[in-house]
Amino acid sequence: MRNRVCVKRFLIVAAAGLLLFSAGCKTPSSNIADRKEPEPGEKIEWSERELLMADFLLYNVDCASSADSFADGEWAGLCQTVPDMPYGEDPGSHKTWGYRKSDYLVPETDSLGKGNTVTKWTVDRDTETEIKTTEILYDFEVPEGTYNVYLGFYNPFSVRKVDVDCEGNNVIAGEKILRYQTNELSFETEVTDGELNLKIYNPEGRNFMDTPILSYVKIAITPEYTIELLSAAVEAMTVENPEVRYTAESSKAYSENLEKAKELLSGKGSNGTNSIKLKFENLRGSFKMLTEKYRYDSFHPGAVWRDTENTPIQAHGGQVQQLEIPDSKTGKLVTKWVWVGEDKTNGYRGGVCAYSSDDLYNWQYEGIIMRNVASRSALETSDYFREVYAGYSSEELDNVALALNADRAVIERPKLIYNEKNKQYVLWFHADGPTETSDSNYAAACAGVAVSDSPFGPYRFVGRYRLNTCPADQEDKYPQSKGMARDMNLFKDTDGTAYIIYSSEENLTLYISKLNDDFTYLATDPAKAVYGKDFIRLFPGAQREAPALFLKDGKYYLMTSGCTGWAPNQARYYVSDSVLGEWVNKGDPCIGDDSHTTFESQSTCIFLEPESNTWIYMGDRWFADTLNDSRYIWLPIVFKENGDMEISFVSEWKLR
Ligand code: GAL
Repeated sequence: MRNRVCVKRFLIVAAAGLLLFSAGCKTPSSNIADRKEPEPGEKIEWSERELLMADFLLYNVDCASSADSFADGEWAGLCQTVPDMPYGEDPGSHKTWGYRKSDYLVPETDSLGKGNTVTKWTVDRDTETEIKTTEILYDFEVPEGTYNVYLGFYNPFSVRKVDVDCEGNNVIAGEKILRYQTNELSFETEVTDGELNLKIYNPEGRNFMDTPILSYVKIAITPEYTIELLSAAVEAMTVENPEVRYTAESSKAYSENLEKAKELLSGKGSNGTNSIKLKFENLRGSFKMLTEKYRYDSFHPGAVWRDTENTPIQAHGGQVQQLEIPDSKTGKLVTKWVWVGEDKTNGYRGGVCAYSSDDLYNWQYEGIIMRNVASRSALETSDYFREVYAGYSSEELDNVALALNADRAVIERPKLIYNEKNKQYVLWFHADGPTETSDSNYAAACAGVAVSDSPFGPYRFVGRYRLNTCPADQEDKYPQSKGMARDMNLFKDTDGTAYIIYSSEENLTLYISKLNDDFTYLATDPAKAVYGKDFIRLFPGAQREAPALFLKDGKYYLMTSGCTGWAPNQARYYVSDSVLGEWVNKGDPCIGDDSHTTFESQSTCIFLEPESNTWIYMGDRWFADTLNDSRYIWLPIVFKENGDMEISFVSEWKLR
């Protein structure tokens, strides 16, 4: 399949500093950043860097496309400014190229095709029977030299064969073009007369089952893999500190390949053609794969929010707070924003994720800080779990496997609290799932606790508990199941006392219960807990959940939602002079929320950004069918003079 080629005559013309054609060609490609404009009369057309960056590609023809420009991300060859055209002068590059028009050739769009295989040339069924040949002809103006030609065929039809002639010689004969796939055929050819001529045909085929099709044509200069080429590539493709601008993954691959290319240049290892080619291609490939990090300088409520590796953030039903944490590189304590939340990457069930940030806009993924458990045996076989649960008794491990079970457990609304007394991070969450007597996902109705010495875990599950119960002298709204705990949050008061706020009594009544000094359990066991001192019940029968409690100017605020599963509903907030005091209903704080759905979200946390003195409402816009794609609604809260709270929707906003 090789067009017998002689010596590759132009060793990558550009690398030698010579350039290809006469001046006057507009560089079409958007991928070329630093094009040097030629001086008048100068025979320079493309810089070394441009050729390298363009993959030496002179033409990249999207056959039968009638578009007059390249779509975003599409790669134009250096000699063209339109994806395809009938033979003639290119409007931008002034090179002469294109397909030869014929009566039987028709464009076809195929919805199954991808990228440059969406459109293709095919042969008109009505005219083909009357004609003897059904060839597809393309001609391209190129300088003398050696080229790699790639022909792409996306075939939605029956299997057919193809022949290709190039420069009058047969280079491909009887090659099978398989159905429903992109078939690429390539060969190398030499051009001495300034024009590369292609003929794509099937010499045997005389009916529509056999006629040729053609999706793309690429023509690239065949480079010579010399030390000079590699050295030019290293120079053109060196990026300082790639990890600052590009994702960690793409920077790492790039840096490794750059290093290997440099090693070869410094005389280490083999410098044979194959070795140079490999280093060159790896460098070029990984350079092109460098992926810019998303950088935000504002909030976009409701839009997909990506972390610094460009992955959509998974921290639903979460909480944001400022913590002093050890810097990952230096170990020194630094103040960071920490966001914990539900990992819904795989849908409904998952562990707990954490992210860190300096500015609240850009978040670095810190991993799954509490993992769920695939099976009981995983706790004894996986290194990760063996380390986290070292010292646990068999019974305790059973409990971990039950409460964090990846197929059955429900882990929601995680909230983190730091305990200065014993330097421990304590993670509370809504720990639910079926029980021995019920298959419901919300039968357990417990609050779960896990602890770690470091903010980003791994967190070790300690237990899941039912909490306080309705005192005998009050009306229990759900007496058949005592001490339930579902949607929850935490709050640490100015005196250091921590509280858990949660939906109980089958979500009919909110409770606030005091935690012990370790923050790992209730201050007083439910059997002995004193109403008003250890806990209170709020709004019995009002059916509130998704609580977010905060303290501002001596007043305690409690934001809540109604209980309608993943569907949003109307918010309501309450205020009080103390955590276990009298809470007063202040109604819905949302302004202009005509559908009364809290701007299609459900509260999860409210916190202060101290520098701009902005209180931020954090809510979840759940997408029940695609939970992993659920969005975050963060909005600034306005406090009126009398302390009333107002939230309006803005599609983009900044801290001031
Ligand atoms: C909501 C709750 C969510 C989740 C959901 C399941 O009411 O706030 O955390 O439990 O129900 O339907």
